[in-house]
Amino acid sequence: MSLDQQIEAVREQFRTSLDSLLNDSKSVEDIRIEFFGRKGKIAGLFARLKELPASEKPSAGKLLNELRNNLQQQFDQTQEKLESTTSKPAEDYFDYTLPGVPVKRGTVHPIQATMDEMKDIFQTIGFNVAYGPEIDDDRHNFEALNFPPHHPARDMQDTFFVDKQTVLRTHTSNVQIHLMENQRPPLRYLMPGKVYRNEAISFKHYCLFHQVEGLYVDKNVSFVDLKGTVYYFLQKMFGKDVKARFRPSFFPFTEPSAEVDIWNEQRNQWMEIVGCGMVDPNVFESVGYDPAVWHGFAFGFGVERIAMLKYKIDDIRLFYQSDVRFLEQFK
Ligand code: DAH
Repeated sequence: MSLDQQIEAVREQFRTSLDSLLNDSKSVEDIRIEFFGRKGKIAGLFARLKELPASEKPSAGKLLNELRNNLQQQFDQTQEKLESTTSKPAEDYFDYTLPGVPVKRGTVHPIQATMDEMKDIFQTIGFNVAYGPEIDDDRHNFEALNFPPHHPARDMQDTFFVDKQTVLRTHTSNVQIHLMENQRPPLRYLMPGKVYRNEAISFKHYCLFHQVEGLYVDKNVSFVDLKGTVYYFLQKMFGKDVKARFRPSFFPFTEPSAEVDIWNEQRNQWMEIVGCGMVDPNVFESVGYDPAVWHGFAFGFGVERIAMLKYKIDDIRLFYQSDVRFLEQFK
């Protein structure tokens, strides 16, 4: 075999040896001895130099030097590569080829989504948002709202009592009183929140529900403003063709009072969604506003009722069962 052919053969053997190193069937030391050792393959080739005629020695020596340097370089690089992957502690490993862990995304509860939408609509027409206590005293939930003690209107509101003077609020109207006690008119507020009633539970009644209260106090506020505001909201919420009716009603804190019904296609009947009216002068007096100067309207929407109409849900109890199959529909 000529020297050239031998050089090629050693190159080829070296390549296979590096592969064996990478797949662990040979060690670094094995290869060092086999090729670079004193009796290794490269030394073997150099030994052949003396067989050559003097005229060929320089060029053959050059070839062998190149071979040695080249193999040494490949060997060093492979060794470095091996060290950089094997010398890391196990916890630093991250296998990027593993499939990802699926993360389940939650959804906004339909009641929250409905309240958010209501807030957006009313904020565009200048209503601020305020919140009040869910546990409140008799004065804020009843007395200042013109429910005298022992008045039969209190019976409308199946109250949960914490003690004689303290209740779980039966409506968000208590926030009206807190606001008016602390601010001078004019005011324009939206007050969303939870309310509680000890009622017989049915498809449209639950012991806990949500209301969005509104209060507008200024000079020269009339029933027309109330009606216009409520219709504006209904059209934004349910579309231009919403079928709604105003109906006279009674609340101690408004005079006159009304309720608004929306036609429920699913059940083929009217569904009451909001109580409203002009703020009763007695309420203004109880917070120190002069009813000869200030007028106002107020309303209290039932959020569950609106959500039921909007999302075509026929049972209020579904909102409170935390059933993922129900909630997932609101993605
Ligand atoms: N608070 C009433 C209820 O719980 C709803 C209501 C009626 C609120 C008339 C108002 C209002 O602000 O003016 O049924």
